[in-house]
Amino acid sequence: MKMQTLPPKADNPNLKDYDEAVKNFDWSDVEKEFTWHETGKVNIAHEAIDRHADAPETANKIALYYSDAEREEEYTFKQMKEMTNKAANVIKDAGIEKGDRVFIFMPRSPELYFALLGAIKVGAIVGPLFEAFMEEAVRSRLEDSEAKALVTTSDLLNRVPVKELPHLEKVFVVGDDVKEDDTYIDLLKKMDEASVEFDTVWMGREDGFILHYTSGSTGKPKGVLHVHNVMIQQYQTAKWVLDLKEDDVYWCTADPGWVTGTGYGIFGPWLTATTNVVRGGRFSPQDWYETLERYQVSVWYSAPTAFRMLMSAGNELVKKYDLSNLRHILSVGEPLNPEVIRWGEEVFDLRIHDTWWMTETGAHMICNYPSMAIKAGSMGKPIPGIKAAIIDDQGNELPPNRMGNLAIRKGWPAMMRAIWNNQEKYDSYFEIDGWYVSGDSAYMDEDGYFWFQGRVDDVIMTSGERVGPFEVESKLLEHPAVAEAGVIGKPDPVRGEIIKAFVALRPGVEGTDELKEDIRTFVKEGLAAHAAPREIEFRDKLPKTRSGKIMRRVLKAWELDLPTGDLSSMDDD
Ligand code: PRX
Repeated sequence: MKMQTLPPKADNPNLKDYDEAVKNFDWSDVEKEFTWHETGKVNIAHEAIDRHADAPETANKIALYYSDAEREEEYTFKQMKEMTNKAANVIKDAGIEKGDRVFIFMPRSPELYFALLGAIKVGAIVGPLFEAFMEEAVRSRLEDSEAKALVTTSDLLNRVPVKELPHLEKVFVVGDDVKEDDTYIDLLKKMDEASVEFDTVWMGREDGFILHYTSGSTGKPKGVLHVHNVMIQQYQTAKWVLDLKEDDVYWCTADPGWVTGTGYGIFGPWLTATTNVVRGGRFSPQDWYETLERYQVSVWYSAPTAFRMLMSAGNELVKKYDLSNLRHILSVGEPLNPEVIRWGEEVFDLRIHDTWWMTETGAHMICNYPSMAIKAGSMGKPIPGIKAAIIDDQGNELPPNRMGNLAIRKGWPAMMRAIWNNQEKYDSYFEIDGWYVSGDSAYMDEDGYFWFQGRVDDVIMTSGERVGPFEVESKLLEHPAVAEAGVIGKPDPVRGEIIKAFVALRPGVEGTDELKEDIRTFVKEGLAAHAAPREIEFRDKLPKTRSGKIMRRVLKAWELDLPTGDLSSMDDD
């Protein structure tokens, strides 16, 4: 296939000359954009909300347009300041202090944003959880982080094993008729009574404020800790990459349970005082186009899975909507197929810009910018101020067009600062001297564009969500019929990958279709819907190493009809 290169389009982007910026850029210049540069008082929630609420030119600007099937609301920066202050007062009055972990487990709603920012104003470390998580997923994250408080809704409370979590002291509930006692607090009622004034707790730039749990190939999900300093890079990339400007209306479709939904669903837009759209509820093509039209969205950040689902809804549908204000579209989370870019050009007359980064990197790393030509299928080029390279396992930089480990020179502003309670795991990312090794394989072409090739490890990317095979396998093993389980990602045209489980049943159990359904439901209800295997295959026995580890690469080779490679470590008794 001939590679498609699309010329630059935006007239006046924030990053006008990429090569020039790479040569001259210095992160210390960005620090001057923040109030703390003068005052020494650091808090990302202050920079995202209060500074704009306190400035006459932005105080009455819309910060948040929120809608779902039942609600339609808008809040100015000044109102956001008041609401987050109210939440902060309630959280602080309940005894939450600097450094305490406060988890947020609820569907998108204005209250989610008030509580999350309010807790950050108190100095807490927030842990956003995706609303689809079931009990086991919630428990393991609250346990690992020793969370002291949780903000949730009355509908989700039954998935929180409060009594089994000894560190969990306070549960703030959003709902009607909340029964209050020493543990449970009616958040809305208390917010109604609370003051709109709050003295934000000032932090150090290197103090933690958010913990995102994310999956690896082994073990439970890891808590990736980010510090207030992340704001420097989220702010700068909101300008360079999202290209946000004063009059933009911006919509990031990601849920705040994932890093995109906080980094670029909260901080990127609000650090730059941009009007931000949040749409609650589930995906539907009509609903999404309506949202773009209703708010006259100008900058839109979404994911390949969503674009592919919109594509399959047909090109007639999109023509019914007035999307004339849309000027910049971006994508993240999985490879952006050239076919999707072509579709974007056809229906929106815009190029879709791919962006690559990870929970661990905290902000954009390799991107396509409005000012540069796009090579369809490439992730783009590193942002000015970071160094990305393709290295071999010894840390040698490889020449262009050679596939290897995608790595970043250690020490960029948004880099994770810890894996919660797991120094060993944290260190494992930095084993090659001076480099952060991403776990992705890629190559760089002779023009400096990076091309994603796949994960080096077994992590599954399904619909843009990262699922650790180990967590799914562990859940499968809890099912009474399952003796052994191995889980892989199987390529899928819409979801990128789907989860496929190979299962060996206990002796005497018959492998029926009903049993498959039962196993699927078991994972769905125990872990999360997106972690349930879409395909299950029964096998008498699974390939394992002599030390008992499931050999997922062999499962993958079976599935894809590929050579199985070296089987010397396989236990073939
Ligand atoms: O494999 C890469 C894939 O998503 C991983 C990071 O997942 P997560 O931490 O959940 O963050 C997702 C969004 C920040 C990466 O290691 N990935 C992310 N962006 C891209 C991508 N794969 C291909 N192309 C991308 N643009």
